[in-house]
Parts: sequence; C-alpha cells; structure tokens
Amino acid sequence: MQVFPAASVNGEISLPGDKSVSHRAAILLSMSTGTGRIENFSASADCRATVECLCELGVRIEADGARRTVTGVGKIGFRPPGTELDCQNSGTSMRLLAGLLAGQPFNSVLTGDESLKKRPMRRIIAPLGLMGCRIDSDDGKAPLRITGRNPLKGAEILPEVASAQIKSAVLLAGVNADGTTTVVEPVPTRDHTERMLRWLGVDVFTEPFDDGLRISVKGDEQPVARDIVVPSDISAATFFMVAAACLDGSDITMKNVGVNGTRRAIIDVLNELGADIRVTGRRESCNEPVADINVRGGLRVSSGPNVVEGAVIANLIDEIPALAVFGTQLEGGLEIRDAGELRIKESDRIAAIVENLRKMGADVDEFPDGFAVGRSRLKGVRLSSEGDHRIAMAFAVAALFADGPTEVAGAECCGVSFPGFFDVLSAATAKVPFRERMI
Ligand code: S3P
Repeated sequence: MQVFPAASVNGEISLPGDKSVSHRAAILLSMSTGTGRIENFSASADCRATVECLCELGVRIEADGARRTVTGVGKIGFRPPGTELDCQNSGTSMRLLAGLLAGQPFNSVLTGDESLKKRPMRRIIAPLGLMGCRIDSDDGKAPLRITGRNPLKGAEILPEVASAQIKSAVLLAGVNADGTTTVVEPVPTRDHTERMLRWLGVDVFTEPFDDGLRISVKGDEQPVARDIVVPSDISAATFFMVAAACLDGSDITMKNVGVNGTRRAIIDVLNELGADIRVTGRRESCNEPVADINVRGGLRVSSGPNVVEGAVIANLIDEIPALAVFGTQLEGGLEIRDAGELRIKESDRIAAIVENLRKMGADVDEFPDGFAVGRSRLKGVRLSSEGDHRIAMAFAVAALFADGPTEVAGAECCGVSFPGFFDVLSAATAKVPFRERMI
C-alpha cells in the first residue's frame, strides 16, 4: 500500500466496534442462557475467529451487518468440537477460549497461525492447571491440547504479568469452578470481562490490593443473555488521534468511543505530550463508559520529560506503535520503558518500530523494554508491516508526515483489527497541494 504525505485529516471518522469488548460479548453471550444481540460488533478478522470457534462449539451466531445474534448454550452446554479450533492471529481468542474450555467436560485443541504459535501460553496454562485442567502444549506454545474438567477447583491466582487476557481466562474458568476464584492484580488491566459479567447478572466482587485489585467470581453463577452495544474502538481511534494532532489544520470527531478508565490512558498521555484532544458527552453504555472525541491539529510544546513508563504501560500497550510515531513529531522526542510485553505481541513490536523508524530516517535507540526516538524529519521509504496490523496502521500514519510517498508492504494485515482502515484514512485526508492522490 502506498501512502502519500497529507496536509490534514478532517471530518467525522467511522471506527469499528471495540475488539476486546466484541470478543467478550461473543464468548459471554455464548455461555449465557437465552438470546442476546450484539450491536456494532467488530468487523475484525480476530473477532471473526472467535465467532467461528464458538460456532464449532455448537453456538448459533447469526450475522446481519454489524449485528450478531447469539443464542447461548449455558456455561457448560458447549458441544465437543469436531476439529481443531483455529484462533488465526488472535491471542485474545486463544487465551479467553482456553478459560472457557478448561471448564468443559470434553477435550479440545486450540491452534492458530504462525505468529500465534510463537506467542507465550504458559501464562494461562499454569493458572488453569492450578484450577484442575490439563493443557498440553508445544513447549508453552500453541497448539494447546485441553483436557477439560467440570467443575474446576476455585483458586487464587497471581498472574505472571499484568494481562487482561490471563485475568479473563481465569475468571471465565472461575464461572465453572467449585467455590470462589480470585485474580490478584497489582497493576490494573482492562476490565471489560468484569463489567460484562456484571451486565449479564454475574456477581464479580473486588477488593483493593496495593495499587490494584483482587477480583473474584463464584462458580455457582450463570450469565443470562442481554443485548450489548459495543463502543467504538479507542485503539483504532488512536491512529487518527495521532494523525490529527500532528497535522496542523486537522479537525476530526469520533463518536461513541469507549473511554473505559483502563483504556483511555492514551488520551491523557497524548494531551500531556501536547495534543489537543477533547472528550465530551461521557455516558454509560451497557456498563462501559463511552464519549465523543474531538482532535484539533497543532502540537503545544510539552513541559517534558517525555517518558512513558510504569503502570500506565499496561493501559496503552496496544497504542505504543502509534505513540512512537507521535514521538517523532515532539520537540523533546519520546522514550517508552517497561514495555517488554511488546516483544511478544503479533510481532516483536519494539524491533518493528525501531527498524521502521530508522528506515524513515529517525534517530532511535532500542532498549530491551522500549525505545527512545528523537524529533525527526521522516522520509518516505519502503517499510514492512511485519504482518502486524498495528505496525501497518501506525506507519501509514507516519507516512502522512514524511517527505515523499511511503510503501507499507503487507498492509492488508490491518484487517486483523480494522478492515477498511485505508479507505477511512483516505477519505479523511486532505492532500498536500500539487501532489498526486494520497493512497
Ligand atoms: C487484550 C489484552 C491485551 C492487549 C490485547 C487485547 C484483551 O493483551 O494487548 O490486544 O482483549 O484482553 P494482554 O492481556 O496480554 O496484555
């Protein structure tokens, strides 16, 4: 995909439904009794993978545009799958479905594409094992051969890293366990699972723990179906926030965006670093906070130092590729630390960010847990997406500020989270005068 420099981005941007919330809506409604509709379901390939796995497990899910109608089978009503369950590129599908399958009285296999088969799964194998389920793996990697057990044993779990996927896998297993299951979370992570369980009538109770929480669920609970409206995806919105903030004269609006406190850190960080992002009309939709976001172009000089590190990283982990691109436009550059988890996402995102920024002429230092980028004039070159959707979209945004056209090879992988990204970007972009078409 070729992307040309742009003068500004403008208008109302239409975003896909939140990917994390969509996965959970499909899974939790499948575990429910009754029928529930999901509105604004993510069009992503990742969420389609979750739906296909659930259908293989005997759930009826009907699609009509962005609506999915799910007829739940109850928390142990799933059918043994006739084949391996293919999570494709989606770590969320694999880890959350492992939690669901751990408590089913049958065996199943979760597999995925080459990228997913390289990602660490011991982080869910160990806690689900403590709860009484056996998972055989390829040295801690997929395919995962799950010997389910019902009921599981309630347990208290301290995840090895701050991860909403581990927490969610354990809570989903906990609904099928004897007694109480508790996840201890010293660093808070996204809490969509807890919010949606409550929306479906399950009592999830929390107590303070250090700067985080202990989150518990009882095994005698049964979710009951209710309609769910999915907020627009703040991680998808981030690419447009960065583009608009960095291009003078931009003015964009994004409506009904999820601004859950465990996801909105990117807005605060971009504003602290000099962006002009306004959040208005805050309201609740199905237990999730949503709001409208307006971004005006032009960066204020931040007071610095421009370092993002510590507990906030867990709440903007998916936004770091876009944040890196933003850093190239800041007076004081930007340093990211404590983000070692980025090395085991859909690609080694630290390596991909550093390599692509260097190719574009930026001054970058790489660290085991992050990177530092100086203010840089970017040049249009040929880049690789590394097959990673967030790298493809972040560097498409970098291309808007570059001198000359940029080729993002393998950009079609953006469909993993945001099919239609390039159409939306193209429609919003005002061309640089006297240049050819942007995309
Ligand atoms: C997700 C949690 C995060 C995030 C991923 C989606 C989720 O992963 O990076 O894209 O939906 O729970 P971790 O839980 O591994 O940090």
